[in-house]
Amino acid sequence: MFTDTIKFYHFLLLLLQSYNAQPTEAETAVWNQVSAVLEEAHGILAELQSYNGAGQEIREAIQNPGDLALQEKAWNAVCPLVAKLKRFYEFSLRLENALRSLLEALTSPPYAPMQHLEREQALAKQFAEILHFTLSFDELKMTNPAIQNDFSYYRRTISRNRLNNQQLEAENEVNNEMANRMSLFYAEATPMLKTLSNATTKFVSENKTLPIEDTTDCLSTMACVCRVMLETPEYRCRFTNTDTMLFCMRVMVGVIILYDHVHPVGAFAKTSKIDMKGCIKVLKEQPSNSVEGLLNALRYTTRHLNDDSTSKQIRALLQ
Ligand SMILES: *[C@@H]1O[C@H](CO)[C@@H](O)[C@H](O)[C@H]1NC(C)=O
Ligand SMILES: *[C@@H]1O[C@H](CO)[C@@H](O)[C@H](O)[C@H]1NC(C)=O
Repeated sequence: MFTDTIKFYHFLLLLLQSYNAQPTEAETAVWNQVSAVLEEAHGILAELQSYNGAGQEIREAIQNPGDLALQEKAWNAVCPLVAKLKRFYEFSLRLENALRSLLEALTSPPYAPMQHLEREQALAKQFAEILHFTLSFDELKMTNPAIQNDFSYYRRTISRNRLNNQQLEAENEVNNEMANRMSLFYAEATPMLKTLSNATTKFVSENKTLPIEDTTDCLSTMACVCRVMLETPEYRCRFTNTDTMLFCMRVMVGVIILYDHVHPVGAFAKTSKIDMKGCIKVLKEQPSNSVEGLLNALRYTTRHLNDDSTSKQIRALLQ
């Protein structure tokens, strides 16, 4: 994989520059579908970034349970926020479908993963963008406790007032079933990543004829591309933009986590095709405020970190 440096470098450039790879004819159908989803992603992130919860209204309502005006004020503040949370949740379902289409395209026989990444560069770039969005979304969600606070207030209010679906739907509110599904989603520390890792796991289990390695090799190849880019000064100096570095780190962590969920022995085992030591080291060399969320994602949303097969050295690196 490393021998073909030129191709490798070409792919790096593609992945990292704002330059958009144009889809080939064979890629167009999937590319268009994913593109429509990605176009929405920017708006979703912006909305989440500016998400200010209804903490104060909720506090006042709870402290003054007899004050109906304050109850109503809190409810009116929370409802539009919950509508936003519903949009995010529904977006996760579209993202899941987009990922599925990409996985299908990037693993379909007879090509090997590296060949796919070369032939379908525009799709590979989209895959990276999905991961970048996912890690960005989860970082914002993790640092915003208002989300769960608002949402649990909403659910408590529904159940206290015994609001039924008809009443809720008449007011355009989120109904009980939807609230249940959303609550499972927001209970995850990293909900988008979990959605994608669930989808990837489902993809490999449904496609029994497709060797798991085809999917995991695609993921480990991408992790390798990102790691090499981050740790090689000649490459890195071309990407002085910190956003580009961050993009690359998020993609790397995203594919590691997917790999770890899908591969039977995971990403941390000695036989893993991902050089975990190298990946963690390169993350730890970056300013800690930009990588803390990513290191936490590796600590808390991987499956195999605490397996006996994980070397002490790797565990120590993540401590
Ligand atoms: C994976 O499974 C889905 C649904 O069963 C099928 O449509 C798709 O063609 C399969 N893909 C591959 C690469 O085998
Ligand atoms: C992922 O799958 C698990 C097990 O099926 C489920 O409990 C969880 O709610 C799912 N999470 C998301 C975000 O889809």
